[in-house]
Amino acid sequence: MLNILVLHGPNLNLLGKREPGVYGSTTLNEIDKLLGQEAQALQVKVSIQQSNHEGVLVDAIHAMLGQHQGLLINAGAYTHTSVAIRDAIAAVNLPAVEVHLSNIYRREEFRHHSFIAPVAIGQISGFGWESYRLGLRALVNYLNKN
Ligand code: DQA
Repeated sequence: MLNILVLHGPNLNLLGKREPGVYGSTTLNEIDKLLGQEAQALQVKVSIQQSNHEGVLVDAIHAMLGQHQGLLINAGAYTHTSVAIRDAIAAVNLPAVEVHLSNIYRREEFRHHSFIAPVAIGQISGFGWESYRLGLRALVNYLNKN
């Protein structure tokens, strides 16, 4: 069975309380539950981790080797700053889908650039928690075809 790593980056542990006008009122726990249900429907396994620390996210990506076949990642603000996370994804060379709750292109200019996008198979941005569901589906479809 395919095993997908889901990574949530910094500040996403505060979802529900954090700028609900931008990110919605769904908590990270609720998103994880919904991802679990979606994984069951797609007949894949998901392992889910959240960290506020760049190096922890890099380590988690390295640890995919031999364990996971794909990565679903919302790197939060590290999307716009982290060459290290981008290089980690390139290093393990496993398919990754980038997701964002908000539409990063409708927001401040500093959010318009993603270091992750060039090493991802695709990006889903702007659908709230549904971005994760759509992203998981897209990733599993890709893995089943390739
Ligand atoms: C985010 C968008 C980022 O710009 C921001 O720093 C986040 C969340 C999103 O899911 O919309 O922390 O990745």
